[in-house]
Amino acid sequence: MARTPRVIQTIAALRKTVATYRKGGAKIALVPTMGALHDGHMSLVEAAKKKGGRVIVSIFVNPEQFAPTEDFATYPRTMDTDVARLKRLEVDAVWAPDVAVMYPEGFSTRVAPGGPAYAGLEDAFRPHFFGGVATVVSKLFIQVLPDFAFFGEKDYQQLKVVTRMAADLDLPVQIVGVPTVREADGLALSSRNVYLSSQERQKAPLLHRVLQDCAEKIRQGEPVSRVMADGGQFLTSEGFVLDYLEARNTDTLEPVASAKQGPLRLLVAARLGTTRLIDNIPV
Ligand code: PAJ
Repeated sequence: MARTPRVIQTIAALRKTVATYRKGGAKIALVPTMGALHDGHMSLVEAAKKKGGRVIVSIFVNPEQFAPTEDFATYPRTMDTDVARLKRLEVDAVWAPDVAVMYPEGFSTRVAPGGPAYAGLEDAFRPHFFGGVATVVSKLFIQVLPDFAFFGEKDYQQLKVVTRMAADLDLPVQIVGVPTVREADGLALSSRNVYLSSQERQKAPLLHRVLQDCAEKIRQGEPVSRVMADGGQFLTSEGFVLDYLEARNTDTLEPVASAKQGPLRLLVAARLGTTRLIDNIPV
């Protein structure tokens, strides 16, 4: 029977555990999360397991990446069920520090990401967000010293920001991107999907369907700007409040006027009622 993963809550205990793993010669894979684990998170854990070494999952709802108007206080916290799920996948340890451990009194050093963090996508609507992500992820990397760290393509700009940051800071970790896990109707799994009313839940898969339609039209040679404008109008007419629907270069996230500037990635963020959903696909 699988052993319950060690739940570690202090830096000292974490360092000891990591040192033991290293002494045994194992590579270490880290999967950073904010908990409320679903099958999307689990696919990252499965990818991490495949590396064959030790797997550490961090669970930390990071106040630094939430604006005061956002859902930090109400973000779903389901530690016991999370640990039970991780046990089934034979995760070695769960790193679950309190806010006071991650950000002790007097904390005042932050990481300021550039490049993809200023693509005019998530950053335009959540200006504090990538600074908070970069700060906590660099702290997690320094705390755990992983060989590999796994991030979902679901948060595509985040994946790019973290990859750039690790390279720029010479962090000795390989960032691995994992494809988005979806419900049968196409809705990308997200911890925030629980906020959707049943009516909104029925509408939500349109986001993915519009991305697919746009990608198909672009592949058939229709002009990118018209395709994206039509897609945006359709989502608005269906009751979404659109933050952005954009075609970008898949590597740089720079805007593209034509499919020739590809390969392209289509990215969308929209609100349904009070719930903000994001998604993206390759063309
Ligand atoms: P969280 O939203 O909990 O997501 C943790 C990881 O799971 C991220 O890398 C995210 O991209 C991935 N993920 C979420 N939904 C997914 C899906 N449907 N398919 C595949 N992967 C999915 O992202 C964060 O937490 C935080 O910003 C964090 C990186 C932990 C820093 O605080």
